[in-house]
Amino acid sequence: MALKHTVKLFAVNKNGCAVFTQRANSWWSQVEMGPPDAILGVTEAFKRDTNPKKINLGVGAYRDDNGKPYLLPSVLKADEKLRAQKLDKEYAPIAGNPEFCKLAISLALGDNSEVISNGLNATVQSISGTGALRVGAAFLNNFFPGNKTVYLPKPTWGNHTPIFKHSGLNVGAYTFYEPQSCGFDFQGALNDISKIPEKSIILLHACAHNPTGVDPSPEQWKELSQVVKKRNLFPFFDMAYQGFASGDIDRDAQAVRLFLKDGHKMVLAQSFAKNMGLYGERAGAFSVIGDSKDEADRVMSQVKILIRAMYSNPPINGARIVATILSDPSLRADWLKEVKGMADRIIGVRTQLRENLKKEGSSKNWQHITDQIGMFCYTGMTPPQVEKLIKEHSVYLTKDGRISMAGVTSKNVEYLARAMHQVTK
Ligand SMILES: Cc1ncc(COP(=O)(O)O)c(C=O)c1O
Repeated sequence: MALKHTVKLFAVNKNGCAVFTQRANSWWSQVEMGPPDAILGVTEAFKRDTNPKKINLGVGAYRDDNGKPYLLPSVLKADEKLRAQKLDKEYAPIAGNPEFCKLAISLALGDNSEVISNGLNATVQSISGTGALRVGAAFLNNFFPGNKTVYLPKPTWGNHTPIFKHSGLNVGAYTFYEPQSCGFDFQGALNDISKIPEKSIILLHACAHNPTGVDPSPEQWKELSQVVKKRNLFPFFDMAYQGFASGDIDRDAQAVRLFLKDGHKMVLAQSFAKNMGLYGERAGAFSVIGDSKDEADRVMSQVKILIRAMYSNPPINGARIVATILSDPSLRADWLKEVKGMADRIIGVRTQLRENLKKEGSSKNWQHITDQIGMFCYTGMTPPQVEKLIKEHSVYLTKDGRISMAGVTSKNVEYLARAMHQVTK
C-alpha cells in the first residue's frame, strides 16, 4: 500500500531565493526505479560516443547501405494515393480494417488457402506484432482449454516472456540454440519438445528467429511438426519477418503453411513493421485458425470483447497503407521487389563480413554468419569480448553478442571485421 507522507523540498523562486515547497501525499514513494531497456541502453551509450567510426548494431530496424532508415517507395506511393483520397479519420471497427485483415491472412497462408476459403480463420488487425502477441496471449489466457503455459525457444525475443507473463500465462522453455555451432540444436529441441506436458502452448518463430538468426531447415520443420502433433501441443506462430528473411514471402511462410497442411490448429501473429518498414505505424494481425466457420465466428466475438477492453480499436493509417499495397497489383509487385532488396542487402553484408574476417586473418570459423538469416546474427562473441568491442572500438551491440546486420554497410564492414578479429583472436 502507498504510504502518504509529506516531502520537504527546496526550490528557487523568481527572485532567485531558496524557498520551501511541500509535496504532500506522495503516492508513489514505494515505486522503485526499473532497469533500463537493454537495447535502448545500447543506443544511449552509442549516442554519447564521439568516435566518428562508431557503429550501432543494437537496434532491430532496417537501415540502407548509408546507414539510414529506408522509406519503401511502394509505401510512399500508397501514402500519396491515400492522401489524395482525403479519407476521413473515423474510428476503425474493433477488429480493424476488414480489407487489411483479409489481405494479411492471405499473405501468410497464400491466396489459395482453404482455411480462408472455408472461413476457418478469425483475423483481427493488431497494434503491430507486439499487439498481436498480446491479444493472442489474452485470448489464450481466457479460453485455452489445456495447460496455460507457453513454451518459448531458448533464447527468444526479449519481449516474449514479459508479454505472456503480463497476460497471466505461465512461461516455460525448450532448447533451440547450440552455442558450439552457433546453429540450431535440432536434437535438443526434439528432446525437450517431446517432454513438454501435453496440451501446452508452444511458441515458434516462423522465420528469421530473433535473436539468433537460426531457422530449422524444411526437413527439420517437418519433424518438428510431427513431434508437436504427437505431444498434442498448440502452436503459436510469431511471424514478424515474412519476406524479410529470404526475400521470398512464400518461402518465409513455409513453416506456418506446413503445420496447417499437417492438420494443426494454431494462432498466428503477423507484423508489417520490418517487411514494409512500417515500424511506427503499428500494423499487424492476429489470427485464430480453428475447425469450422461457426467456431471462427464465436472466437472472433470473444477476441473483439478483449480488444474493446484493452484499446477499443486499432490505428487506421498503417493498415490502410498495407491494404493499398497488397490490393494494387502494381504496388504489390514493387513491394515484393523492395522487400527482396532489403533481404538481399542483409544477405550480402553477411558474406562481406565473413570475407573481411578472413582477410583480417581470423582463424575462427565464422560460417554461422552466412548460415544465419534475417535481421540478426548471433556471433558467438562472449560478454568480455563484447565489452572490448564497445570500449576499444566503439562498436555497440547487446551483451549476448547479437548484432543487427541492418547496421552493417559496405562502408563500415571492414572496420567491423577488424574490430571483431581484434577482440576474438
Ligand atoms: C520475434 C519478434 N516478434 C515480434 C516482434 C514485434 O515487433 P512489432 O511490434 O514492432 O511488430 C519483433 C520485433 O522485433 C520480433 O523480433
